[in-house]
Amino acid sequence: AEEGHVEDFSFSFEGPFGTYDQLQLQRGLKVYTMVCSSCHGLRYVPIRTLGSESGPGLPEDQVRAYADQYVEVYDPELEEWRAAKPTDNFPAVESAGAPDLSLMAKGRAGFHGPYGLGLNQLFKGMGGPEYIASILTGYTGEEQQQAGTILYENTAFPGGWISMAPPLYGDDVDYEDGTEATIEQEAKDVAAFLMWAAEPKMMERRHAGFAGVIFLIVLTSLLYLTNKSLWAPIK
Ligand code: HEM
Repeated sequence: AEEGHVEDFSFSFEGPFGTYDQLQLQRGLKVYTMVCSSCHGLRYVPIRTLGSESGPGLPEDQVRAYADQYVEVYDPELEEWRAAKPTDNFPAVESAGAPDLSLMAKGRAGFHGPYGLGLNQLFKGMGGPEYIASILTGYTGEEQQQAGTILYENTAFPGGWISMAPPLYGDDVDYEDGTEATIEQEAKDVAAFLMWAAEPKMMERRHAGFAGVIFLIVLTSLLYLTNKSLWAPIK
């Protein structure tokens, strides 16, 4: 059977001028909250960052309501579970044996090679979010039991068999913006959300990079002109 096949989904944040699509991040947050968060934690992501302008951009009262309604954290001082505050991180979830998703979009590469040259990465990007979306859409429906664990055939997972049951069936969430919640749409939305979670400052980093390059171009031309005028009398 096929394994390790990653579909080259297109995302708004690709390319040097790409930006996160705020509505898509909000949809992805909803998929994570309603579906993935029962097994997967996001332990390195502070809840308050949901209000970030370059991220999901939730208004402050919605960030507070989100923490209060959807997230329970263990408070070591109270020695009990309580509703989260925006200053808390999303909790770690370890009970299901599922990996934390905070850095998953950067921890996995979708595209490789050829022959260690990295040309695929150069042209298509690292492919972390493509890998996540491919896993979620890559189930064939076949299952097998191995040493007491049920494994599900998946065309994207290395080895071809994953222990995560298919989490998406389509219409798993209601999108407020009217987008149709197909499996592929939900998969892409949650993959985009997880890219933002792993790399929340991508836009700021690119802006700083462009400002730096423009500054260097200006500086180079000024130095060139200075050099010319300084040496003009001698030449
Ligand atoms: C593994 C994403 C829902 C249980 C994974 C992996 C990803 C992922 C990216 C890692 C694959 C790798 O190691 O390369 C998601 C997303 C979900 C979701 C985005 C929501 C749409 C769930 C749910 C459960 C679950 C609801 C539990 C019922 C697991 C387990 C693994 C896993 C046990 C380890 C699989 C293995 O290594 O064989 N998931 N997951 N996931 N997930 Fe999920």
